[in-house]
Amino acid sequence: MRILVTGGAGFIGSHLVRRLLADPRHQVVNLDALRYSGNLENLADVAGHPRYTFVHGDICDAATVEQVLKEQGIEAVVNAAAETHVDRSILDPHSFAKTDVVGTAVLLEASRKAKVERYLQVSTDEVYGSVETGMSTEEDPLIPRSPYAASKAGGDLLVRSYWTTYRFPVLITRGSNTYGPHQYPEKFIPLCVTNAIDDQPLPIYGDGRYRRDWLSVHDHCSAIEHVLLNGRPGTVYNVGGGNERENIAVAEMILEQLGKPTSLIRFVEDRPGHDRRYAVDCSRLRALGWAPTVPFEEGLRATVDWYRTHEGWWRKIKSGEFRAYYERMYGKRLREGVTG
Ligand code: TYD
Repeated sequence: MRILVTGGAGFIGSHLVRRLLADPRHQVVNLDALRYSGNLENLADVAGHPRYTFVHGDICDAATVEQVLKEQGIEAVVNAAAETHVDRSILDPHSFAKTDVVGTAVLLEASRKAKVERYLQVSTDEVYGSVETGMSTEEDPLIPRSPYAASKAGGDLLVRSYWTTYRFPVLITRGSNTYGPHQYPEKFIPLCVTNAIDDQPLPIYGDGRYRRDWLSVHDHCSAIEHVLLNGRPGTVYNVGGGNERENIAVAEMILEQLGKPTSLIRFVEDRPGHDRRYAVDCSRLRALGWAPTVPFEEGLRATVDWYRTHEGWWRKIKSGEFRAYYERMYGKRLREGVTG
């Protein structure tokens, strides 16, 4: 299959590109705008691969998208291009609406016109909103609570509408919190790991008892590939790792693995509208023949080791644009500690 992966230079996208290339039946085209978190270094090992092509461009740009679909003879599309960080969405909601809603609309319509055979939208469990008890099923209402989650929900609903309206063969995956190598250090796990390596404080929002279901990027990508190849058109599939943990417990595991003291933990002012918990029921995807394979302790250890042995990768990021972002997000918080 000739597959277009958008956002292929990002965290999940780059793992997915590499995974798809491992199957000799696939040709992979990566369309990426290379904004702050898109990084071609993530794919340095496959840059010259005979079945891989990189195109620099934005999913919001219809002419570019149409040209790529046509010239590359694309048969399947995986939309992994997105603005993904909740905290940034609180600082700048507009860019989230643009990429996650308008970008999805452009890519979806171009894919329909090009008669693409399968279109998979990489969505998120955050579209369900905070789940205090129980597990979200694919039929639950979407009650997103951050500009990020609302933008992803907008894209997700547009994609579903293309099945009911046009019978365009779409698929949607709603993955839980993903972790692994090459994740931009604004996210909780790589932020904690890289701060701890440098003996810097680990900022823990609120009481630290917020819960997330951690999914290895390898399991997330195996789920996306499995749904792309085997999913029923018009269907949504939840993807979760089955590793629900409190944030504070994750931070303590990281410190323990790095041999750093728990005194680095710093409780700071909470994120506004912070969702207490996400949890997804994955029985639909399990019935399709997928299961996660990476236990959290093992996956986290491998991730910590990766950051420990790839300092060049994240130090370059942390010394660039990230510094201004970090000061804006955490400067006051860390100086003041928990307020109120
Ligand atoms: P994050 O990686 O931003 O993912 P999401 O908000 O999409 O779940 O955050 C994971 C959890 O960690 C979430 O409950 C917020 C919390 N968190 C902190 O406590 N401190 C931080 O500095 C960050 C980035 C996140």
